[in-house]
Amino acid sequence: MHTLSDLNLQGASVLVRLDLNVPLADGEITDDGRIRAAVPTLKELLEAGAAPVVVAHLGRPKGEVKPELSLAPVATRMAELVGVPVELAPAGDFPPARPGTIVLLENIRFDPREASKDQAERAALATELAAGRDAYVSDGFGVLHREQASVTDVAKLLPNAAGRLVEKEIRSFESVLKDPARPYTVVLGGSKVSDKLLVIDNLLKSVDRLIIGGGMCFTFLAAEGHAIGDSLFEPDWVDACLQILKDARERGVEVLLPTDVVIAQDIAADADTDVVKVEQGIPDGWKGLDIGPQTAAAYAQAVLDSATVVWNGPMGVFEVAPFAAGTIAVARALAETDGFTVVGGGDSAAAVRLLDIDADAIDHISTGGGASLELLEGKTLPGIAVLEDA
Ligand code: 3PG
Repeated sequence: MHTLSDLNLQGASVLVRLDLNVPLADGEITDDGRIRAAVPTLKELLEAGAAPVVVAHLGRPKGEVKPELSLAPVATRMAELVGVPVELAPAGDFPPARPGTIVLLENIRFDPREASKDQAERAALATELAAGRDAYVSDGFGVLHREQASVTDVAKLLPNAAGRLVEKEIRSFESVLKDPARPYTVVLGGSKVSDKLLVIDNLLKSVDRLIIGGGMCFTFLAAEGHAIGDSLFEPDWVDACLQILKDARERGVEVLLPTDVVIAQDIAADADTDVVKVEQGIPDGWKGLDIGPQTAAAYAQAVLDSATVVWNGPMGVFEVAPFAAGTIAVARALAETDGFTVVGGGDSAAAVRLLDIDADAIDHISTGGGASLELLEGKTLPGIAVLEDA
């Protein structure tokens, strides 16, 4: 791909796709990580004399104007972070660029053509977005797995390049996917095995060690014959878990599953908790909500002993204090190890920020959830495929 350095930016009107899909509570941004991640590209464009017009989405309004999904709070935060005025254009209005200012177009998913399955509809919107622009910069890493007008169709109409965030994201994932330093460990968590099956299938070809925690570990534990009480369980995926364990054995991949877990009857900050050994089983009426202390120590040590670590998915319900220790232990080990470390977006990136982990000590914290998973699955992202080759 081309990068910003390949574009003629002086005096240019540049359409920039960003992923500004930030979490909101009562209209307030609760995590501005994605806006911060966009700042280097915006500043570089402004400093090079270009006028950026930013296109982005928020949530899934499904082609309707939903005032609660307006990008207005994002415009305010962006102006604070970049230090220039940010003018929010009303829905359906695609005004010209204004030198020295960022024009932010209102939530592009208010327009039904953005995510339409009909290529002609998407192309019509893309043509409107591209009118009067000199170049397109793709810097919305988190949305590159979507075939949408502002991601793929418009890129075909203008000279284009990846922005600095997309460049860094792709470089980081390439270095772990193509030629990882060994031992290479992947830590997977999150609630469902079914969400991670394709990732595991692809990673088993290259990893030395696969560490499994989070809600998904209970389907593996059940598959191995352990009592899991009322823990998260996907009965339809038991065979897939057994197949994964078999494939791992055949490939010489070490799989680490919990040996102890933190259990409770409810997910509540004041819940009564206990720690049980997996061998002993989880009683009915209780559910596993975090990996136990013995498991957390073993997982942290395995991370410290690795030269490359990719982490995707929390080890427990980290948002609720009694169930955060496992995720904290893994995240701290990631920050401490000398190895090359990548956090694969979504919940694990939020955990790093919420749990006060030294984010600077982690080599790369992805801004993409679905996009980073698709890269780990070995797929080519449509938003990358469409960019011009350098
Ligand atoms: C994300 O939050 O992962 C991206 O912004 C993509 O959002 P989507 O899953 O609604 O397409």
